[in-house]
Amino acid sequence: MKFFLDSAMVDEIEYALGTFDIDGVTTNPRHVQVSGKPFLTVVREIARLVDGTDKTVSVEVNPHYMTYEKIVPEAEKLAAISPNFVIKIQCMEPAFRAIEALAKQDIRVNCTLIFSAMQALQAMRSGAYYVSPFIGWKEANAEETRGLIDDIVTIRDNYDFNTEVIVAAVRNARQIIDAAIVGADIVTAGLAVYQDGFHHPYTKEGIQKFSSFWDQTQYE
Ligand code: E4P
Repeated sequence: MKFFLDSAMVDEIEYALGTFDIDGVTTNPRHVQVSGKPFLTVVREIARLVDGTDKTVSVEVNPHYMTYEKIVPEAEKLAAISPNFVIKIQCMEPAFRAIEALAKQDIRVNCTLIFSAMQALQAMRSGAYYVSPFIGWKEANAEETRGLIDDIVTIRDNYDFNTEVIVAAVRNARQIIDAAIVGADIVTAGLAVYQDGFHHPYTKEGIQKFSSFWDQTQYE
């Protein structure tokens, strides 16, 4: 399973690349705003971090762009910045024709803001490279999500769609493990979510105990 970092903070991305070799990056308008930098500046900086690798960086088209005519030229412009870029387009009716047209030019699209299997199915039919169901948003509204991911992965496999499923808006390690159990290809989460998942209080306790025994023992 691939781990993507959901962030536009260059220092965080560098850290996650160096410590647990993240497989890619996803950004969104919130992350870019939090970075405090202009959009094009920050996405170019992130592109440099993964230059020469096969790690993808998902970069979102202006969310105000709601028509094919507006979406496609902007997606082309962003895709020309870096071969690592996958263009994020919101799941809505005009997006589907845009995804199809971009796929014909080998421009990869991450269809984002997906909340149902039906949305994912149509995005896959259109040729999306990634589909991103936002499970954290659904769980915040007490909706179940493991079944949704399972449905999307099953549909993808039933029809051999050439699409990878990114489980997005992940808030905790349990959601990552659920995604892995049902066979999602990728999860994307913030740095703190991964770090919380890598730690366990028993591990910490064990390190303290063993260090204490070590200190009471001669080495040779
Ligand atoms: C995924 O691609 C999105 O960037 C992300 O997971 C959105 O969720 P959040 O901004 O609510 O964390």
